[in-house]
Amino acid sequence: MTIISKPQGMRTIEWTPSLSVGVDRLDHDHQMLLIAIGLLENELMLSLENNRIQSIADFLGRYANLHFAREERLMTALGFDGLDAHLVEHRDFAKWQENVLPGLEKVKGGAFGDSVIHYLSDWLAHHVREVDMRYAPLFLEHAGEVQTILRASEMAVPLAL
Ligand SMILES: [Fe+2]
Ligand SMILES: [Fe+2]
Repeated sequence: MTIISKPQGMRTIEWTPSLSVGVDRLDHDHQMLLIAIGLLENELMLSLENNRIQSIADFLGRYANLHFAREERLMTALGFDGLDAHLVEHRDFAKWQENVLPGLEKVKGGAFGDSVIHYLSDWLAHHVREVDMRYAPLFLEHAGEVQTILRASEMAVPLAL
């Protein structure tokens, strides 16, 4: 299991095995989102190159959407009874990121950048620990089917930074 450490002082949450939802592909997605949030925090603090802030923010938004699609495909295929509530959580975040992330290149440090990182860190912790953990027992019970669905639906769209 990969352990991702963060430099002291960073607010982005740290990956620990307790965050695992039991599906490697989805854990990897969560780790990628965590890394992107950490990179964004770093760039917002350093404020060296605005175009890098925006490219990381864009990547984060695209990766979150891809991750949501992956989870939703699995929950739908397996008949997860918490699907509707889960979709609301995903849509709320999608709306937030559509409103906030595109303007991020104009932010150079300061309170707004801090609030964005706080929101993202809190959201990821909530998303994994509380929301995604609800599907974990069902996905574990149908582990073989989960792998088949993931293999059949791997997206070919490259997500370059
Ligand atoms: Fe997730
Ligand atoms: Fe989710």
